[in-house]
Amino acid sequence: MVNYKNLGLVNSRALFERATKENYAIPAFNFNNMEQLQAIIQACVEESSPVILQVSSGARKYANQTILRYLAQGAVEYAKELGKAIPIVLHLDHGDTFDLCKSCIDFGFSSVMIDGSHFPYDENVKLTCKVVEYAHHHGVTVEGELGVLAGIEDDVSAKSNTYTKPEEVEDFVSKTNVDSLAISIGTSHGANKFKPEQCTRNNKGILIPPILRFDILEAVEKRIPGFPIVLHGASSVPQIQVEIINNNGGKLKDAIGIPEEQLRKAARSSVCKINIDSDGRLVMTAAIRSIFNTNPEWFDPRQYLGPARESLKDLYKHKITHVLGSAGKI
Ligand code: G3H
Ligand code: 13P
Ligand code: ZN
Repeated sequence: MVNYKNLGLVNSRALFERATKENYAIPAFNFNNMEQLQAIIQACVEESSPVILQVSSGARKYANQTILRYLAQGAVEYAKELGKAIPIVLHLDHGDTFDLCKSCIDFGFSSVMIDGSHFPYDENVKLTCKVVEYAHHHGVTVEGELGVLAGIEDDVSAKSNTYTKPEEVEDFVSKTNVDSLAISIGTSHGANKFKPEQCTRNNKGILIPPILRFDILEAVEKRIPGFPIVLHGASSVPQIQVEIINNNGGKLKDAIGIPEEQLRKAARSSVCKINIDSDGRLVMTAAIRSIFNTNPEWFDPRQYLGPARESLKDLYKHKITHVLGSAGKI
């Protein structure tokens, strides 16, 4: 049994309290390897931002839970070495069973998500309660979810969004005692968040995605004022990165994300955690593809992973300063 406090990590409670009061959102960046983690920590230290390091169950399978935990512990020390002890949360993204959540808690995670959103309401409540009871006993915070996002949530995929029903949130929060709630208001996972036929075109022919359901977010806020809300599927899919990928041998079709203005608006509301994974994947792939194309003789991984890490850092700094508003909030 490893307690997260001994690793220098924090849970999300105090971070959410301040973010909710001061109208910004904490970045929740997914990572699977050392370069992604270095880029996240460098960006957050340079911008003095707290951060939630997210590990999906896929990441846990890919990199190994023990290695990821030591990487997170290393991140705490690395931030200090860079000159700022920023608050760092190690969070399980989309935990789907009690056993997975328990295992992460026992291995040093400071926060877990139990995603029972695919189950009928009562089953979601029951499973979430069980995780909350165990997690709170160890000082770990818990994120629950109501409503289903379209796209792939780890091994589970849903074809379309099931929006959160605002009339369920009070009951869910009071019965489960979760610390934060993920809701579904039109975002989805991955780089293809909308089909072109769901979008309109501006006068330059650029696809404009539909606006998120801020009416649902407002209805949720009215029912649970000041309660921390989480937005998943919040990548913007920068078209410049899609172009770089496609101009260097990639084949990404109809990749469309959430416009940053909408995410800024969400970050100013009671949304206090915004999840970003796909944008990091795109930036890393764009950098590596372009280096492979222009330097076919290179074969040292540092020659392409190093620049990819720099591009990732720029992306994270941009998100913190221009989208989330978490710069300086340590
Ligand atoms: O919610 C999905 C995250 O982007 C994690 O993706 O399961 O492929 O690691 P993954
Ligand atoms: P994106 O696929 O939009 O980056 O969403 C990531 C996410 O929600 C992780 O839980
Ligand atoms: Zn998610």
